[in-house]
Amino acid sequence: MRILGINGSPRGAASRTRRLLEAVLQGAAAAGAETGYIDIADHEIRPCTGCTLCYRTGECPKSDDFAAVYEKMLAADAIVLGSPNYIDNVSAQLKLLLDRMADAIHCQRFAGKYGCAVSTAGGSGADEVAAYLNQTLRVLGATTVGAVGVVLGPDPDALFPAEEQAYRLGTDLAAAVREGRRYPDQEAFHQGMEERMRFLVEAHKDEWTHEYDTWAARPKA
Ligand SMILES: Cc1cc2nc3c(=O)[nH]c(=O)nc-3n(C[C@H](O)[C@H](O)[C@H](O)COP(=O)(O)O)c2cc1C
Repeated sequence: MRILGINGSPRGAASRTRRLLEAVLQGAAAAGAETGYIDIADHEIRPCTGCTLCYRTGECPKSDDFAAVYEKMLAADAIVLGSPNYIDNVSAQLKLLLDRMADAIHCQRFAGKYGCAVSTAGGSGADEVAAYLNQTLRVLGATTVGAVGVVLGPDPDALFPAEEQAYRLGTDLAAAVREGRRYPDQEAFHQGMEERMRFLVEAHKDEWTHEYDTWAARPKA
């Protein structure tokens, strides 16, 4: 079982979000997962320019680190996304990665994977940022098992109980992967996404040839 954590903070070892992400990965490792960690700010991810070539070919023509990071995501059974709250959103560094994944959404590439999210904030919004990251994972097709968001401005020591919560989240994430746990409340969403994406891609079948071939080869759920 492979679980990959991706942190959107550019602060490297000083990142408080990293502390939460590492706690999730430690919990997952204790439950038997092989874990990996990526600081997205250490990678060159150029902005999506909306050329739609990935819809046609399955590949982005930009030459940067996206393909290597994406390959690791595809190889993982579960993905943990983390970001500090930057102006009530994820960091720009992480958003660059997410914006490069429209083809992955159209093809529901994360179907069958699990995920969870963590966020830290100075004054507010950590839960909202973590919820957005989980929503993104679900839109990609993954099933999410929970989130930890913590506001640290008033009490930096709040990081300690949040790390314990994150550790438990990691243990639960690994258990969900192992059991193939089902979340009935997310199944209607996933089915709706599959239907929407099939319909969208079929409507563009002459242009989005790689995406059309992907869906044509996949049995209907
Ligand atoms: C550019 C920038 C924007 C930020 N925006 C917000 C914000 O909108 N709300 C908030 O509560 N904290 C905000 N913060 C504070 C960070 O979310 C907080 O310090 C976080 O714990 C940093 O995480 P890190 O240590 O993982 O980098 C911002 C910090 C920076 C540098």
